Amino acid sequence: MATEKTFYLETFGCQMNAHDSEKVIGTLQQQGYRQVEAEADASLILYNTCSIRDKAEQKVFNRLNDYKKLYKQGKRFGVLGCVAQQEGEKIFERAPYVSLVSGSASYRKLPEMLSRLEAGESRITGLDDRQTDQTFETEFTSRQNPYRGYITIIEGCDKFCSYCVVPYTRGKERSRSSSSVLGEARRIADLGYTEIQLLGQNVNSYRDPEGKLSFAELLAAVGQVAGIRRVRFTTSHPRHFTRDIVEAIDAYPTLCDHVHLPVQSGSARILKAMAREYTPDWYLERIGWIKASRRQISLSTDIIVGFPGETADDFIQTMDLLAEVEYDCVFGFKYSARPNTPALVMIDSIPEAEKAHRLQVLLDRQREIQRVNYAKHLREVLEVMVEGVNPARGQVTGRSSQNKPVNFTTSQVIAPAPGTYLQVRITATHPNSLVGEAV
Ligand code: 5AD
Ligand code: SF4
Repeated sequence: MATEKTFYLETFGCQMNAHDSEKVIGTLQQQGYRQVEAEADASLILYNTCSIRDKAEQKVFNRLNDYKKLYKQGKRFGVLGCVAQQEGEKIFERAPYVSLVSGSASYRKLPEMLSRLEAGESRITGLDDRQTDQTFETEFTSRQNPYRGYITIIEGCDKFCSYCVVPYTRGKERSRSSSSVLGEARRIADLGYTEIQLLGQNVNSYRDPEGKLSFAELLAAVGQVAGIRRVRFTTSHPRHFTRDIVEAIDAYPTLCDHVHLPVQSGSARILKAMAREYTPDWYLERIGWIKASRRQISLSTDIIVGFPGETADDFIQTMDLLAEVEYDCVFGFKYSARPNTPALVMIDSIPEAEKAHRLQVLLDRQREIQRVNYAKHLREVLEVMVEGVNPARGQVTGRSSQNKPVNFTTSQVIAPAPGTYLQVRITATHPNSLVGEAV
């Protein structure tokens, strides 16, 4: 290995992974490593992988294959995250030049694993910690996002939806104490962050190990940390979505008026096969609470089309639910069979072309719903937090509290910095974004 310890890290997947990478970067820096922007400059190359859909593991192996020659130059490779946890030591068989394979639950052992790597050991694994009660917390988190501070409040998932790898890759649910969460929220605010996003695969299953605060009370408490102007949370499970969450959003303006509540399907039969533990009626009751809020709470969701056995009629029920809720944003996915999951034994009966067709029908309809929803903002003045600039268009980009992207112009000569708040008058609307000018 080269004398200077340098690393390159590439991250795939969800916000949990993005935030894990912030912790990994901080830990590596603490161990004397310097982050570099190109694989060519790194002595250690790390991939923080995702295995939620598609042939994710195949993509990782293809990628690793490309780098075989770099191994000959003395570089070392590590595979982190969900594909690492899922494939485990099989990775060494298929990619013998990989030296380190670690799932997220073992990152707290990274310093030890790195020392072994530096001592020339290979085939180092961190795979056995999914049942641990310790969450991966580190005081060294190297925050990469200039305007949003992520805080993991709960790791893992105990729900075992029949299609999902997460319970296998991230292990059982374990919450972090409310005092630890609030301590980090205050530290983040001291660093100058005004937006906090609370993270968990199943964020509203949060159970304070200290028994002090419910999830809704924790939201309220984070919303009252001095200096914090926006609090977001993701991802909620309908089964644990309680009315007091809406009451907290009603009571504390710092809690953003946006709820992401994945429904997955509008068919009771398919929801049962998915082991989602709710019916469409149960889900819609919660949507009713959210819509009854004093605030205009924006709704978004995740939907899977083509789950094994999904009939044309099941799909129509999903379309009906879409029309009824009128979401502001939908993440639609074609079902893909995942290793270890219960749905793997169900016959993946819907042809790929039919899945693609249903997804297109869903997204086309949703686009029309959003066209109408977004048009309602015309001439409104919204508070926007700046996220960056689009030099090509001379526009500033940001988001409203409802999480809607806003592209706008400003008369200021110097572009406002990420994290700045501006009032923006909306002058045009699109199905996925708003356009305006700072006032
Ligand atoms: N196939 C397709 N989509 C999936 N998701 C999770 N697992 C699968 C799968 N096997 C989707 C769900 C989830 C989102 C993060 O990814 O909609 O809410
Ligand atoms: Fe992907 Fe799920 Fe792992 Fe996030 S937790 S990286 S979405 S498999």
